[in-house]
Amino acid sequence: MHMTLPQDVEKAILKILAIHDLQWRTAKIHQKRLGQIRRQLRTLSDNFAESISSEEKYADAYLAYNVPRNFMEAMIIGREVAAFAPHVCNKENINILDIGCGEGAGMLGLYYSLRNSQDFAFTGIDTSALLLKECRKLTNLLFRESNIRITLRKQNVSDGLLPTKQKFDIIILAHSLAEMYPKSIPIRFIHRLFRNVTESGLTIIIEPALKQLSRRLTDLRNNVIADRKLSVQLPCLHNRECPLCNIRKQKEWCHQSIRWQPPDFMEIMNQGLNREIRTLKFSYLVISRKDFSVPHENQHLVISNLLKEKGKQKCFLCTPTGRMELVRLNKNRTECNKTFGRIRKGDMISVRHLVEKRGYWHVAHDTEIRIHHSKHS
Ligand SMILES: C[S@@+](CC[C@H](N)C(=O)[O-])C[C@H]1O[C@@H](n2cnc3c(N)ncnc32)[C@H](O)[C@@H]1O
Repeated sequence: MHMTLPQDVEKAILKILAIHDLQWRTAKIHQKRLGQIRRQLRTLSDNFAESISSEEKYADAYLAYNVPRNFMEAMIIGREVAAFAPHVCNKENINILDIGCGEGAGMLGLYYSLRNSQDFAFTGIDTSALLLKECRKLTNLLFRESNIRITLRKQNVSDGLLPTKQKFDIIILAHSLAEMYPKSIPIRFIHRLFRNVTESGLTIIIEPALKQLSRRLTDLRNNVIADRKLSVQLPCLHNRECPLCNIRKQKEWCHQSIRWQPPDFMEIMNQGLNREIRTLKFSYLVISRKDFSVPHENQHLVISNLLKEKGKQKCFLCTPTGRMELVRLNKNRTECNKTFGRIRKGDMISVRHLVEKRGYWHVAHDTEIRIHHSKHS
């Protein structure tokens, strides 16, 4: 079973789009409205490809297509943060700032992954009054409990100087950095943000999985590590050089690809557009002041899917000594190492009793594999 969008989020989006009863059997009735949104979507994507931001102009298309995906990405990362940084997420009062919040996908995704806290305060900042209005509509429909406070501010924060003295447990920038910084991301911007982050808090940056934007994020990661004032916590489980930097010529870059089941309305909308909507592709970084309490020793990030070859299966791991192939011959499949067959890209795994060969790790009969965290469930 793949992940799905929570039903109340789906309903709220459809309500704002004025197609609340859209289903496969009613799609014909909504042809005109669907046609409008599809046309907007085409232009939105063309503009994105040319680095022109137009989500304000095509807010309906953005809400129909980007918001559900960006919501899911923030939710996936929120769950991972909850697993690796329980001290941040199990607080009674959690204070979250969403920079470039748009319609609110980032803060909403975090809320749905961190619901264990008792009280939430969300602040959304954006330069677009129209998108803040849309965000207000969406959060009014979804934040019904009395334990949630929300403040929305129209502000340009590209200098990283925030219009508040508040300290936040989490600052999230979901798909907003590319607009704020079309070229490289200055580390000074991140340092300034941390003036408004609590001592044990963190900053989450999500970007599209495009090669140039993902590599920019890797460059930021390298700068944060070299600078030594802050610490990169996720997705990297070590602070050595990104192994994929060394194999750039092979056209590799660190990004996530996660299968999900889009809601029916997205499948209906996608008719005629035929986009690959069933995979969430994104890059991300989680930065904090200190290391998280849970050590990642002997845990590795899986950076490929399981690849089938003649007589064997393999995947690639990100390790402090570089990219490593983990190989299991089909004839070596045992009860002990059966978890190998469940490994997916983005998982965090540990491997015991492996056999180190020249250039790869070999899964033997008695090798034990544990998946510590999966982004897919
Ligand atoms: C691609 S949208 C992302 C919206 C939302 N975070 C999401 O994940 O769906 C980028 C957002 O950043 C906002 N933005 C761009 N530059 C900004 C700036 N300098 N200060 C605040 N917001 C900015 C835009 O108005 C837009 O809403």
